[in-house]
Amino acid sequence: MRLLAVCCCHGTIGCVDLVMLEAFGLDPEILHLNHGAFGVAPVVVRRAAAAWRERAERNPHRFNRVEIPGLVAAARERAAGFLGIDPSRAAWVRNVSEGVSAVLSSLELSPGEELVIGTHGYGAVRKALNHHAARVGARVIEAAFPVGAGDGVIVAAYAAACSPRTRLVVVDRITSPTATVLPVAAVAAAARAAGARVLVDAAHAPGQLPDDIAALGADHWIGNLHKWAYAPRGSAILWSRPGADVSPTVLSWQLADGYAASFDYPGTWDYAGWLAAGDGLAYWEALDGWAAVGRLADLATIGQEQLAAALGITLTSLPLTPAPAMRLVPLPDGVLTSHDQVDPFYEALSRRRVEVAPVCFGGAGYLRIAAAPYNTPDDYDLLAATVRELLD
Ligand SMILES: Cc1ncc(COP(=O)(O)O)c(C=O)c1O
Repeated sequence: MRLLAVCCCHGTIGCVDLVMLEAFGLDPEILHLNHGAFGVAPVVVRRAAAAWRERAERNPHRFNRVEIPGLVAAARERAAGFLGIDPSRAAWVRNVSEGVSAVLSSLELSPGEELVIGTHGYGAVRKALNHHAARVGARVIEAAFPVGAGDGVIVAAYAAACSPRTRLVVVDRITSPTATVLPVAAVAAAARAAGARVLVDAAHAPGQLPDDIAALGADHWIGNLHKWAYAPRGSAILWSRPGADVSPTVLSWQLADGYAASFDYPGTWDYAGWLAAGDGLAYWEALDGWAAVGRLADLATIGQEQLAAALGITLTSLPLTPAPAMRLVPLPDGVLTSHDQVDPFYEALSRRRVEVAPVCFGGAGYLRIAAAPYNTPDDYDLLAATVRELLD
């Protein structure tokens, strides 16, 4: 059982922020330190989605036949406004995986051509690239660079992986295993110089990084709104530059209605999450927007330092440009040095009611911690105590 300290009058709790845990509808007996993985919509946002679902069910025929197109387009305009992009270039997808699938399906790869992804790239995205490449006899090339590499080394790694055969370079805005912000504009410039298209995997960017998306120099950009922008799970936007249209993965009635509208209606399904996405964005804004992200970054730094101190770790060779609210903490030498150790380590932590991301990267073990609005500095002490118990 997780220890809960006594509540004080204005909502901040001694060692656990019960008010925010409740606002996010999280089990207070679990230590939640992995917001980046799947996000969580605050309770008010879930209620907004439930209200849309209920409205749809009360007259499903009219809701689906008449109301959905306008409502979904309006929700898309709201999401585009939040991201600072032209709504006609913003397409609804359910997640980055779906957006990547749409881009790859529209690519028409030929035998001998190449796709590039970084060694820090997301595993499921790499699988999608491998799948499309294998179907036609194309190849996937990896851009390799170590944790803690400088921007110059990172850009050079992607440039070296490119050749005249490269059709598409996938570059992460924030890497998943290593929580590193990559220099995507410079990588995009290098890829374009090689004649390749560029897809930015920005799964963790919305609500974490204030990017000018159209200025990154990419052909496609995909961001999840359900991680750090507090929208219901299944809300993501695929942006494509003018002239780089792609088709949706689900082809349906609005297919011929233009780039963005062709994604608005992937057939009959539950549109409540998209319709409530604006409530998530409003929640992010009401929490104080970028100022709040700055506070999460400070908390992440505190957490990283507390954890390192408690584990007797020196914080060296870490990402030079860490994600604001996600950080790596190295584990002691010899811990999590192979991938098959990761799941048992996760299970051991989860059995102790701690949710955090154990990582093995480049033969070294790390914890990827997060700092969300419901986290407090004490959370990282509790994590450290649990990890120490486990290692002992
Ligand atoms: C960098 C990166 N890309 C892609 C994804 C896949 O996101 P989704 O499961 O929402 O498609 C994730 C998920 O965490 C990710 O971290």
